[in-house]
Amino acid sequence: MSDSENLKKIYHPSEEVVARARVKDYDAMYKESVENREAFWAREAEELEWYKKWDKVLDESNKPFYKWFVGGKTNIIHNALDRHLKTATRNKIALIWEGEPGDIKVYSYHALSREVSKFANVLRAMGVQKGEIVTIYMPQIPELIIAMLACAKIGAVHSVVYGGFSVEALAERIEDANSRVLITADGGWRRGKKVVLKKIANEAMKRSPTIEVCITVKRIDVEDCYMETDRDFWWHELMGMPIAGTSADTEVTDAEDPLFILYTSGTTGKPKGVVHTHGGYSVYTMSTFKYVFDIKPEDRWWCAADPGWITGHSYIVYAPLIMGATIMSYEGAPNHPYPNRWWSMVEKYGINILYTSPTAIRGLMRFGSSWVEKHNLSSLRLLGSVGEPINPEAWRWYYEVVGQSRCPIMDTWWQTETGGFMITPLPVTPLKPGSATKPFFGNEIAVVDEAGNEMKPGEEGTLVIRNPWPGMARTILNDPDRYIEKYWKAYEKQGWYLAGDSARVDEDGYFWIIGRIDDVLKVSGYRLGSAEIESALVSHPAVTEAAAIGLPDELRGNAIHAFVILKQKETPSKELKEELMQHVVDEIGPIARPQEIIFVDSLPKTRSGKIMRRVLKAQAMGQDPGDITTLED
Ligand code: WT7
Repeated sequence: MSDSENLKKIYHPSEEVVARARVKDYDAMYKESVENREAFWAREAEELEWYKKWDKVLDESNKPFYKWFVGGKTNIIHNALDRHLKTATRNKIALIWEGEPGDIKVYSYHALSREVSKFANVLRAMGVQKGEIVTIYMPQIPELIIAMLACAKIGAVHSVVYGGFSVEALAERIEDANSRVLITADGGWRRGKKVVLKKIANEAMKRSPTIEVCITVKRIDVEDCYMETDRDFWWHELMGMPIAGTSADTEVTDAEDPLFILYTSGTTGKPKGVVHTHGGYSVYTMSTFKYVFDIKPEDRWWCAADPGWITGHSYIVYAPLIMGATIMSYEGAPNHPYPNRWWSMVEKYGINILYTSPTAIRGLMRFGSSWVEKHNLSSLRLLGSVGEPINPEAWRWYYEVVGQSRCPIMDTWWQTETGGFMITPLPVTPLKPGSATKPFFGNEIAVVDEAGNEMKPGEEGTLVIRNPWPGMARTILNDPDRYIEKYWKAYEKQGWYLAGDSARVDEDGYFWIIGRIDDVLKVSGYRLGSAEIESALVSHPAVTEAAAIGLPDELRGNAIHAFVILKQKETPSKELKEELMQHVVDEIGPIARPQEIIFVDSLPKTRSGKIMRRVLKAQAMGQDPGDITTLED
């Protein structure tokens, strides 16, 4: 088949997949869900248990600060753990965890709930209050999940900072959240090496002195792991004390009480603390997970993300536990010790549904199909993708080699701010490689021009969501004005949510996401702001000014290129270039390491002094920079 024929090919789900699917007729159910949105969400919410039922499904009195299930009393832990202890699910495996060196831990729902209760008691003993924000900075170990759930159980708000971030990124987030308690680990395993986290945590605590209590899990046994008397405690010692007990009460929270903060990159240097709640978030993640991945009691589910990102929050931790599913979690690199690590785990644990990112797929594809073909992957039924547009080549490899042309790929478009899937196929949806297909139930999504007119089929425009949904972010921590400004200002008149992506809709109503329209980069699926990388560079004593852009990269989606103006007395050199790259790693983390640093004498700016990154990008790619009438010189 030629490439253009291939691109037009539509992949229909097999009869077997269709027979098993919960929803057979997407169109009918979609129509019903948007015509009667509140009734749809009320029905979904009724599948959960509530301490007290809501008075009102949706409160629109203070737009865009929407409220869902107002008056309802709940706690996500009641639905994710407590209620399962009353049924046979109590004895089911909740979590299978494998460490990179090959160590394994398995928790039943009963055991997971017991560990969560113990740690909830520890937190309470440390004086953690309802509503207080606890920062968590850990590798992918079971204690990370236990810590998150324990916070939720006592009504505290967790703020998980991805374990791949470094000192400044962590310090900034601790400070913005004004956290008094930090939970971390001495380190973790990555590609056969010990990665030390406690040193970074110590350094961050120096920079932001709000932390009074730091609890550390011993994972890798670091020599000279500095522990400060009266501030630092070992997790295992606290969990072994009588105060930990074996059971704990779950705090009753309002539906609208905050569950967690998750920081995400925006267009300014300061990351945004996105706020999600107990009620609406429970309903939205449960519902999307149930319909899209069609989860059944016998399934084994593996979302190969890190719990430190929204993907992990929603679809490793909360939605699967609410559904009583069995989750798989793996600490390390997909290619350690060999590129078949994932496939051997799919075979060994009999995984039925695998959810990962285009960058991971491309990374594994590089090693060739034979690594996959060594393994019996017949347990797989569905596959998933998230994080950036998936290129058709990677899509087909994933579909044909991994899924053996049997497993539909759920390409889910969503964001930290949306809480759960927004544009996504269902198992019955005919698929076009590279398209996230159609809106999830209840959502009216469109591609529009600046005035809000819908674009014609095939034309590029701005992606907007025209209605509230239960999983939507409620605000930005400490900055409600920024929430309005960033998401609701552009289409204020219409009351639409601006996603920050450009997209196309084709003649069949399928959505094709193109990419970010702001200065946000997607590097290996991770979201980074140009401004964050720039402020890390400028914090180096040799630098006066910097501009960071993303250039297309086959493997990572975007590769970071940074343009740097040095202070007068400094001279460009290879060593300085390397030092600056390392400096960005030390400040933000390895994911932010620029692939290239270019020393320049000036940067293109608008007359108002804004760096025109698009001009740099066009230049780097040898393209026409477009309209440069606002360029200063
Ligand atoms: C941005 C949000 C949601 C979990 C992971 C990312 C891009 C996400 C897709 C997809 C094309 C996608 C968008 C979006 N994106 N999923 N299936 N196809 N693009 O969450 O870090 O908040 O990033 O990721 O650009 O705006 P995030």
